[in-house]
Amino acid sequence: MTLSPVNSTRTSVLPLEMEREYPILISGYGAEVIDAEGRRYLDAMSGGSMAATLGHGRNDLIEVARNQAKRISYLNNEWLTNPWAEDLARELIEVAPEGLGRARFVTGGAEANELAIRTARTYHVSRGDIQRWQIISPAQSYHGPTMETLALTGRPGLHGAFGPYLPKHLYIPPSTTRFDETGKEALDALDDALEEAGPETVSLFFCEPISAAALPAYSPPNLFWEGLAERREQYGFLIGFDEVVTGVGRTGDWFAANRLPIVPDIIATAKGLGAGYAAIGATLCQNQIYETIARKSESFSLGHTWDAAPLSCAVGLAVIETLHAEGLVEHVAYRGPRLKNELETALIKTDMVREVRGHGFLLGVEYADPRDGFSLLPRELGVAGRIDAAAERNGLLVLSTQPTGDGYAGDQSLFAPPFTTSEDELAKMIERFAASVAEVAAEVDAQLDNRPEKSSP
Ligand SMILES: Cc1ncc(COP(=O)(O)O)c(C=O)c1O
Repeated sequence: MTLSPVNSTRTSVLPLEMEREYPILISGYGAEVIDAEGRRYLDAMSGGSMAATLGHGRNDLIEVARNQAKRISYLNNEWLTNPWAEDLARELIEVAPEGLGRARFVTGGAEANELAIRTARTYHVSRGDIQRWQIISPAQSYHGPTMETLALTGRPGLHGAFGPYLPKHLYIPPSTTRFDETGKEALDALDDALEEAGPETVSLFFCEPISAAALPAYSPPNLFWEGLAERREQYGFLIGFDEVVTGVGRTGDWFAANRLPIVPDIIATAKGLGAGYAAIGATLCQNQIYETIARKSESFSLGHTWDAAPLSCAVGLAVIETLHAEGLVEHVAYRGPRLKNELETALIKTDMVREVRGHGFLLGVEYADPRDGFSLLPRELGVAGRIDAAAERNGLLVLSTQPTGDGYAGDQSLFAPPFTTSEDELAKMIERFAASVAEVAAEVDAQLDNRPEKSSP
């Protein structure tokens, strides 16, 4: 077994980042993970991707998976169904926002988002509205690495070399407190996009209700959501929410949509549904969307091999039962605001910290140039990466995002621990995170003191 950290010259895996030294993690329990050299880290990112909402090494979920695998692990769902998929759909609908009465299973977030797009298009075509295909979405987002989901973000840096394969969509800029505090400019941009597309051709407005990695824990003001709902009414497009991260409890509600003054037509969710114990996602739609499609078509074709497999659905069902039995969504709702305050208090002394925001156990920290407390930090300082590296040295896993080329987002960190993290672990996470940020901020201050001028965002 390989035990020491590997880089691209010492691995047979094609790594995501060639220059990085990858620590090798071999086990985990609760909110703690252990590397091959025996070092322990607190996992403030729920497995790195925010999926491991119930922590690592849960014997009850492992037992469910083991028993299900022994009974029947896999069946394709094209010609038959199974009790675990049926029960999971019912349970999910029970906790979903009003009217979302049908669910279909896939294996992850990007697939759930793609299914949301197919559902919207099938609905319009079923109604004879065949000209509706275009999608409008906020540019600063992340919806997955498949060509369609990648195209939904308007971030050329993320598109990289794949531009020629990506379908063209319309984007609006984010209404962050930095650019558009009220949400009015985002609505104006939406109006422009609708006009550019021709509103009768628009199928879907697709977005994260509360952003995950792209703008950690940010959600536009109510004015935006209310204006979006009015435009849906006026122009007839659908609204789809990417709740791949926020769904199944992360923000202290079963779905983040419940926190907003708008009910979506379609929701895609994934990570927390399998809680890191199974690869599963789901797309939910409003009853009237299902009924329209059902009236017109005998089938809703195209699926993946592992859709609604007994193994993943049984685990999903056990995850939902655990959330209910342990009152974890309520716990996240109750504990989240205090966690945010504690993080704020720990970071307040650091000038480089501009904002701490979020809901439940999805918190975001935004950094700014300490010389004016507002401008984005110079990109070349690589602050996000340095914070993650400092945290790792201090025994903590967090995830920070680098500034984007278009200036929509600067250096930011996500803080998203498992719902089951103990009080003692939460306190240690905050302490280690604040120490890591302070360490990098002191270096940055020294570097900026030597710089003649503030660089523009
Ligand atoms: C908001 C959001 N949507 C979609 C995805 C893609 O999900 P997956 O990696 O399961 O395909 C992610 C993954 O990080 C995400 O954060």
